[in-house]
Amino acid sequence: MTLKKYLLAPGPVPVPPNVLNAMAAPIIHHRSPDFVELFAEVKEGLQHFYQTEQPVLILGATGTGGMEGSVTNFLSPGDKALVVNGGKFGERWTKICTAYGIQVTEIKVTWGESVDVAQVEAALKADPAIKAVYVQASETSTGTAHDVKAIAALTQGRDTLTVVDAITALGVIDMPMDAWGLDVVVSGSQKGYMLPPGLAFVGVSEKAWGFQRTAKCPRFYFDFAKEKKALEGNQTAYTPAVSLIVGLKEVLKMVREEGLQNLFARHARLAEATREGMRAAGLTLFPTGTPSTAVTAVNAPEGIDGQDIYKTLRTRFGVTAAGGQDHLKGKIFRIAHLGYADTFDTITAVAATEMAIAALGGKVNLGAGVRRAEELLG
Ligand SMILES: Cc1ncc(COP(=O)(O)O)c(C=O)c1O
Repeated sequence: MTLKKYLLAPGPVPVPPNVLNAMAAPIIHHRSPDFVELFAEVKEGLQHFYQTEQPVLILGATGTGGMEGSVTNFLSPGDKALVVNGGKFGERWTKICTAYGIQVTEIKVTWGESVDVAQVEAALKADPAIKAVYVQASETSTGTAHDVKAIAALTQGRDTLTVVDAITALGVIDMPMDAWGLDVVVSGSQKGYMLPPGLAFVGVSEKAWGFQRTAKCPRFYFDFAKEKKALEGNQTAYTPAVSLIVGLKEVLKMVREEGLQNLFARHARLAEATREGMRAAGLTLFPTGTPSTAVTAVNAPEGIDGQDIYKTLRTRFGVTAAGGQDHLKGKIFRIAHLGYADTFDTITAVAATEMAIAALGGKVNLGAGVRRAEELLG
């Protein structure tokens, strides 16, 4: 038999069979009443998922497209932005801002640490002209979370937006957009949505729409005002990814059936069991800050290359995880627990990790991690 595959990477994640089936239906036309009806339902479901009364834009793009639009729609060349850069995706905010002539002040965070909110507060106090703070709720490259709730509290009452990359946080942790005062929240279909890649979502607050009206960065495809207007008529500005939106309807139905709080609790349970399982196996975790609930970053044990663990997981056991990026390449590997993930994904992740390290001749408490995960998940 060919190797059975287990997709345990931090995106794309597996798509549930009922969602795959729904997406196999014949294409409907996007300017038809059928689509309008579908879109109206999806629009409402998305607001529930985001915990917002604000419109949530649906873009035919990957998450990065949503990030780019979240720079160009709210700022003008020469504006000042504060970027929390604690990994590959924080770095991406800086790159996008710089590409559009935004003046970036970076808070460089050691990879694996969570940003010190007092540092954000100090940077904002030092420069009242900062118009937006860009941050990740979950920095996927390091498996670390930042406290976006506390950051949003700092920008309330001043002329500054909190813009959150929630690409591996939305639908994973409880981060109510309105209650926390998050101004712009970006997410992507291949993560907590359990969909294939191809859709980006952006929730936009009233305050951020105010910025949108005067922002001067060049933009055309990612023009949020145009998308908002289309959304009001249950449409998208351009031809939408119809099949993905059909799948989205199915996913949002599943979310309602599970209940948001149960969904967050499931993710928290899987994350904890993964962390504890890895520790019991004799491994150490990479983050020194708050660990992400979506993905666990594990240090490669002494004398074993993290890339070899990642490769052994894939080629010998059929488990697709992720390696480390940049200077963490070879030092860590990452296993996800987001989206269509449940108890036996985590048991598989811990068991396969133990087996891969043993196969590479590394020191590991074979079976101890699985036992711990079973205790926590039973
Ligand atoms: C936190 C975070 N931001 C941004 C991205 C980029 O998303 P995409 O690859 O869909 O453009 C990812 C993807 O892994 C991510 O995890």
